[in-house]
Amino acid sequence: MAQAKLNVDASKFDLPVVKATQGPDGIMVSSLANDGFVTLDPGFLTTAQCESKITFIDGKNSVLLYRGYPIEQLCEQSDFLEVAWLLRHGELPSRAEYDRFCADLNHRTMVGEDFRSFMASFPRAAQPMSVLASAINALAAFYPDTTDITDPGKLDEASRIIMAKARTIVSYIYRRRRDEPMLYPDVARGYVDDFLRMCFAVPYEPYESDDLSIHALGRLLIIHADHEQNCSTSVVRIAGSAHANLYSAIAAGVNALSGPLHGGANEAVLRQLEVIRDSGESVASFVEDAKRNGTRISGFGHRVYKCHDPRAEVAKHYLQELMARGDVDDRLPADERALFDIATQLEDIATHDDYFVSRHLYPNVDFYTGLLYRIIGFEPAMFTPLFALGRIPGWIAQYREMLADPGTRIGRPRQVYTGRTRRDYVPMDQR
Ligand code: CMC
Repeated sequence: MAQAKLNVDASKFDLPVVKATQGPDGIMVSSLANDGFVTLDPGFLTTAQCESKITFIDGKNSVLLYRGYPIEQLCEQSDFLEVAWLLRHGELPSRAEYDRFCADLNHRTMVGEDFRSFMASFPRAAQPMSVLASAINALAAFYPDTTDITDPGKLDEASRIIMAKARTIVSYIYRRRRDEPMLYPDVARGYVDDFLRMCFAVPYEPYESDDLSIHALGRLLIIHADHEQNCSTSVVRIAGSAHANLYSAIAAGVNALSGPLHGGANEAVLRQLEVIRDSGESVASFVEDAKRNGTRISGFGHRVYKCHDPRAEVAKHYLQELMARGDVDDRLPADERALFDIATQLEDIATHDDYFVSRHLYPNVDFYTGLLYRIIGFEPAMFTPLFALGRIPGWIAQYREMLADPGTRIGRPRQVYTGRTRRDYVPMDQR
């Protein structure tokens, strides 16, 4: 085994190196704790928290692989449920496994009336990500027989329940905001087709599917399905490392995802475009102001991608396809269509501006997805729940990999303490 050597003053340490099949090898530093040292790495820029076989990113070459398969191939040839299976099991399913998986999910898609009443108790205007996290968490209370994570059968069932009901939950969040009734699933339709129907159908009218919207949303779910040890996935793993049940850990992931630096960026991008439009300011001066004030432009930059985000390329492709259709004017009012022009200008200016070029800040996946969700028919507040819907298979796969790994220990980072040293309490009247 390769060894790394570390010298700290007179102390010398030999640290084992864990070989990667692709990407950087890992220097195992855990033993340093016994010698009175910790490693300090704010934001975990160079800290791997686990070994994983699920997803590989090469951020310098725009590569994203799920279990070895490039996302471009999966977007072209696969579908979301097959990708969900792949992430969890490591191999593509046989026809029989795939059919069984789809049937298992279909039979769990409905939620009970008590659960529906629980969801209906949230204010209509509630933040959708808060409702989604609460709803996923509440599944543990509604299905207590499936929370024992030491029983693989129960863990399988919890995984199926979350995958199946998340679609119903997200569609109901959308409908409640509009004071519309929950629609029950129609298992004769595919996962994405039925999700769109549950969101947009009028209960007493037949619902006509739009093939391009179904296809585009299916691709968006695939490109969001996993992204190795990002913020929300790390949260899922850390919560799970304390043996929190799958529902609790995924609810924690939903909460982490909601932040505007992470999944919440897709909504932030659209809000940003609205601000530019309503200010009447030119896009160029908006960019200059942001640079001067040190404000982050939502939808640009990524911790790992230092060139094009391959997910952004896929999203941009489908955005262009939907925009090229003749019905855009029917789908979006003129003031919203203006946002697409502003986005094009912003992308053009930022990708040529030295500030962005020198820092390798490219448009990320969230730059395009909000516009795409919008053209499919969703309002901005729903964008991040749609990201979460896509990420659920990844969170499940990562949680289960974490649990099955004999090397997993409770996630418990250390710190370098820089506060006051020991001192004596001073009574209040003597301060
Ligand atoms: N606009 C302007 N400047 C930026 C941006 C941005 N969006 N992102 C990074 N920078 C600057 C940053 O100020 C720093 O400049 P300097 O070297 O002069 O101090 C430099 O670029 C490096 O940034 P960093 O803070 O080291 O980057 P990070 O890896 O810690 O943060 C990020 C990554 C995604 C949080 C950040 O790029 C960001 O805040 N982007 C905007 C929010 C966003 O779009 N998030 C979605 C990410 S993709 C989907 C997801 O992960 O959920």
